[in-house]
Amino acid sequence: QLPESVTIKEVGPRDGLQNEASLISTEDKVEWINLLSASGFSYIEFSSFVHPKWIPQLADAVEVAKNITRNPDITYAALVPNRKGLERALEVDVDEVSIFMSASEAHNKNNINKSIDDTYPVLDEVVRDAKAAGKSVRGYVSTVFGCPYEGNVQVDQVIRVCDSLFEMGIDELSLGDTIGVANPKQVDQFLDEIKGRFDLSKLAMHFHDTRGMALANVLVSLQHDIRTFDSTVGGLGGCPYAKGASGNLATDDLVHMLDEMEIRTGVDEEKLIKAASFIGSKLDKQLPSHQMQMIHKA
Ligand code: HMG
Ligand code: MG
Repeated sequence: QLPESVTIKEVGPRDGLQNEASLISTEDKVEWINLLSASGFSYIEFSSFVHPKWIPQLADAVEVAKNITRNPDITYAALVPNRKGLERALEVDVDEVSIFMSASEAHNKNNINKSIDDTYPVLDEVVRDAKAAGKSVRGYVSTVFGCPYEGNVQVDQVIRVCDSLFEMGIDELSLGDTIGVANPKQVDQFLDEIKGRFDLSKLAMHFHDTRGMALANVLVSLQHDIRTFDSTVGGLGGCPYAKGASGNLATDDLVHMLDEMEIRTGVDEEKLIKAASFIGSKLDKQLPSHQMQMIHKA
């Protein structure tokens, strides 16, 4: 039984841009996010408040937040790794805070410079303080279906990390296929295993399309009653601390598939393509989504 509607969380301005070497000006980011806001999303992850040395592209998160036109019907969220990041995020009154960690030790260490055990108290404090400030909190778990350093990741280990994040009081959990290795059978078995353990309405899937399996993984997730998906316009993206994590699931391809399947997303395909073309031209590159390739060839 497929759903009548699905929520798409546009993470392009964060997950899409963080891997791009050529720096986009704050002004262009603001214009792009405003185009995304006009495309019908209910949720946009607009930047991250991580250490600017780690992700120079997103060093201007405060300026971006101050200059975008905030539609009150849209949740504007950003990644926050620690207390310092939360202070910066609260200064500009983000709507939602996203904490993140990995299911695998080596990726966690490479990405946020701490062991998994040492990460918990840092994130626990962020959740507590964000909640005290009236913010909702999203949690991300990375390397759910495989790690660039360790290979296979045990489902039990993923469950342990998810349990810990839910115990902190997060409102939603996004399960990340950071390097795009998940296949539909694996996603099917994984969702079977976690079924009954977590409230499915609080889960989102975050697929990368590195090996072309993201839409197939979405279909399997839909069959398991998952209703929220993260994606980036044009298929921009990746994680700089996960070699090979290029290309998130493309929002335009996802919207197109769901439109054809008569599953509502609220996102306007034409406006979305306008937003994709805008950032493609600023990055001076051909974006990898099928929709953008078709336009390019036409
Ligand atoms: P660290 O160097 O261990 O930090 O970095 P620290 O706590 O030791 O502090 C060192 C200095 O950095 C201090 O300054 C802090 O104030 C400063 P000093 O006292 O030396 O002058 N500092 C900060 N400054 C600004 N903002 C901050 C901040 N924190 C500390 N937030 C840290 C640890 C976590 C900060 C660093 O490793 C980091 O920023 N990592 C971010 C990596 C990242 O953004 N990765 C990509 C996002 S995750 C992802 O893509 C996966 C996802 O898409 C899901 C999926 O696909 O799986 C979400
Ligand atoms: Mg990602």
